[in-house]
Amino acid sequence: MRRFLGRRWMSTSTVGWWDNVGPAPKDPLLSITEAFLADNHPEKINLGVGAYRDDEGKPIVLQCVRDAEARIAGTEYLESLSRQGSLKLVMESVKLAYGENSGIVKEGKFAGVQAISGTGACRLFAELQRRFQPDSRIYLPVPTWSNHHNIWRDAQVPQRTFQYYNPASKGIHFAALMDDIKNAPNRSFFLLHPCAHNPTGIDPTDEQWREISYLFKVKNHFPFFDMAYQGFASGDLKKDAQAIHIFLDDGHLIGCAQSFAKTMGLYGQRVGCLSVLCVDKNQATAVKSQLQHIARAMYSNPPVHGALLVSTILGDPGLKSMWVKEVKVMSDRLMKMRNALRVNLENLGSALTWEHITNQVGMFWYSGLNPEQVDRLRNEFHIYMTHDGRISMAGVTTGNVDYLANAIHEVTKSG
Ligand code: LMR
Repeated sequence: MRRFLGRRWMSTSTVGWWDNVGPAPKDPLLSITEAFLADNHPEKINLGVGAYRDDEGKPIVLQCVRDAEARIAGTEYLESLSRQGSLKLVMESVKLAYGENSGIVKEGKFAGVQAISGTGACRLFAELQRRFQPDSRIYLPVPTWSNHHNIWRDAQVPQRTFQYYNPASKGIHFAALMDDIKNAPNRSFFLLHPCAHNPTGIDPTDEQWREISYLFKVKNHFPFFDMAYQGFASGDLKKDAQAIHIFLDDGHLIGCAQSFAKTMGLYGQRVGCLSVLCVDKNQATAVKSQLQHIARAMYSNPPVHGALLVSTILGDPGLKSMWVKEVKVMSDRLMKMRNALRVNLENLGSALTWEHITNQVGMFWYSGLNPEQVDRLRNEFHIYMTHDGRISMAGVTTGNVDYLANAIHEVTKSG
């Protein structure tokens, strides 16, 4: 419709500001949960998103978290944290990653900020990389957590990949990985998973990490560790930080993203830490101020509640040792389910080999099931997982492991 407005005829129809916007691509991980929730089958199983579940298939609240909640009840925490986030959280986090007695931590030669869980820590780092190493790229392993691609894409850092997984052996493709590290231009940035690699569940051995670290030194590459599952690979937090220690021993200045989503079951609280090691305290102060500056424009301050929980747990010897035990319980349950699934498949007389279920570690089993088999599991058995065949072992329970093994056996019978 046209109306006479003042001196001119104007169209009063609504202008379509967003006519050019189509739907975003579905997230390959989060969309599985949506499909699972829409399924009413009584035996449905969600093996999609990597979130810990107990043997009843239920999310848990760790006892150390409940106790920390009770301790902080009534705390005056409605004020925003300073832009660096909780100092205590940062100090306790870096001790977990680099060691209680780490010289770097004691001498303050690191820039550390609280981050919005692991994703936020990666995003802050990617932004720092673009701003201060504008000609650099990030090398991501093939495969990696799908969101790594989104994060560095949004930060406009060009991406390259390096080989990691060998489909033939269902293990690490070490020679190819070393070749790719060698062939990358000197001073490249690499993203590494220090433990419980997502999605493959395959970690280099300590000896392989030493070789990787040595080659990084020769090539002057920058190692950026994304540590979302510390404790889930071996059940031991220190052991799971061994790759980082190997790099520290070789004198690397590394970056590290940490998340407490999985390890403390604080998925919705978004608590994490980003640390970047620096040559001295002055450099650390400058880098930290830039990270705070980046965060200020993105979200101002990180949220308070989760940070209080984590720093209360890590800062109290009693709560911390309770947490260490609870991490072990979670990791043991995942390993127990790996064993049960493997034994079940072998007992069914499957002609295929299933050692990779127990050779791989952490939250995920990279099954090697192909997309057709994944589709059959979903359509015929109501079992949900990512299209690349990644299975979250957290979704496997004593109650559903037989059903799952039977279903996998059925869809793999012909090859
Ligand atoms: C996963 O890989 O499933 C987890 O890291 C959860 C997520 O947010 O993607």
